[in-house]
Amino acid sequence: MRILVTGGSGFIGSAFLNRYVPNNSQHQFLNIDKLGYASHPLNTAELESLSNYSFARADLASFERVQELVTAFEPDRVFHFAAESHVDRSIRAPLEFVQSNVLGTANLLEACRQIWDGDQQPVFLSVSTDEVFGSLGESGAFSETTPYDPHSPYSASKASADHFCRAYYDTFKLPVKITNCSNNYGPRQFPEKLIPLMILNAMEDKPLPVYGEGLNVRDWLFVDDHCEALWQVAERGRVGETYCIGGGHDVPNIEIVRGITKLMSERRGVASLDHLITFVKDRPGHDFRYAIDSSKLRTELGWKPSCTFEEGLARTMDWYLGNPEWVRQVRSGEYQQWIESHYGVAH
Ligand code: NAD
Ligand code: TYD
Repeated sequence: MRILVTGGSGFIGSAFLNRYVPNNSQHQFLNIDKLGYASHPLNTAELESLSNYSFARADLASFERVQELVTAFEPDRVFHFAAESHVDRSIRAPLEFVQSNVLGTANLLEACRQIWDGDQQPVFLSVSTDEVFGSLGESGAFSETTPYDPHSPYSASKASADHFCRAYYDTFKLPVKITNCSNNYGPRQFPEKLIPLMILNAMEDKPLPVYGEGLNVRDWLFVDDHCEALWQVAERGRVGETYCIGGGHDVPNIEIVRGITKLMSERRGVASLDHLITFVKDRPGHDFRYAIDSSKLRTELGWKPSCTFEEGLARTMDWYLGNPEWVRQVRSGEYQQWIESHYGVAH
C-alpha cells in the first residue's frame, strides 16, 4: 500500500509515523508537511534512513503542489492530520485556519478525487476533533449523532473541513472516513497546549496560567491510543462513517494541573509546586465541557485505550524531562531559520 500522511511532522502525525512506519516495511509512507511552527524535523528523525519513508515539504493551501504530489505518489490510503491546531492562535489569526484547515482539506480531497477512478478501494481518513460539536453542560457526552455547533475559529475550520469530506463522499463517492477525537497528550506536543506548557513551566518554576477558575472540562487521550484507533478505523471502519474517539478521562483543567504539579514535585524532589498555579483571564468563547461517547468505536472495532491517564502523564513528563534539546530547539525559533535555509519557503 502507498500511505499518504499529511502533517506527519507535527505532534499526532509524527506519533503515528513513528508507530507504523518501522513495522510496516511492506507499505510506502509519504509525509507531506509544511513544517510550520508546531512541527520539528527531529520528530521524524528516526525514520529518515528507512526505505519505506519519504518526506515532501509542501503547503496544502497550494492546489498545484498538492495535485503534483498526490498524482506522483498515487496513495491508496490517506491519513489527513495537517492543520493549524491551537484554539488561542485561531482567536488571534483566524484566516490562517481557513487556509490550512478548510482550503488545505478541500485541495487534498480534490487531488484524490482526480486520481481515484473507482478501480481501487482507497480510504481518505480525516482526523478531526470533538470541538466541532461545541460545548456540553454539566452532563452528557458527544457522539456521532451530535449536531455540529463550533464556537472558535479553530473548531469552525475543522467543522468546515468535515463538511467538505462528507460532501465529497455524498457527491463523488470519495471513500471518506472521519474521526472526531478528544484532547490528546503525549511526547512531542508543541508546548503551547495545556499539558506540555504546564510540564515545562513547572519544571522551570514559572507560573502555571489556568484560564478562568480552571473548571472547564476536557477529555484526555494518550496520543498512541488515538493513533491505534485511526489505524483500526482505516482498516476496518465503514466508509462514509464517523467515529468518535475518547479517553473516558474527562476532568476539570485544575485537576490536570494539580496532577502535573504533584508528579513534577516528586520528580524534582520538592515538597509542592502548587504555589505556581496562577488563575488568569479566561479564553473568549471558552467551551465549558467536552466528553466523548466512543461506544461505536469500542463495539464495532474493539478499540479501547491501552494506558490510564496516570501512566500516560508519567510517560509524557518523562519524555519532556529526557529531551531537553528538543525543548530548546522548538522554543528557540532557531530551527525555523534552519528550515527556511534548508528547504526554502513551503509552497
Ligand atoms: P500540530 O499542530 O502539532 O501539527 C499539525 C501539523 O500540520 C504540523 O506539522 C504543521 O506543520 C502541519 N500543517 C499545518 N498546516 C499545514 C498546511 N497548510 N500544509 C501542510 N502541513 C500543514 O497538531 P496535532 O495536535 O498533531 O493535530 C493533528 C490533527 O489532529 C489536526 O488535524 C487536529 O485538528 C487534530 N486533532 C488534534 C487533537 C489534539 O488534541 N491535539 C485532538 C483531536 C484532533
Ligand atoms: P488546549 O490545550 O489549548 O486545548 P483545547 O483548547 O483545544 O481544548 O487547552 C485545554 C484546556 O486548558 C482548555 O480548557 C483551555 C485550558 N488552558 C488553560 O487553562 N491554560 C492554558 O495556558 C492553556 C493553553 C489552556
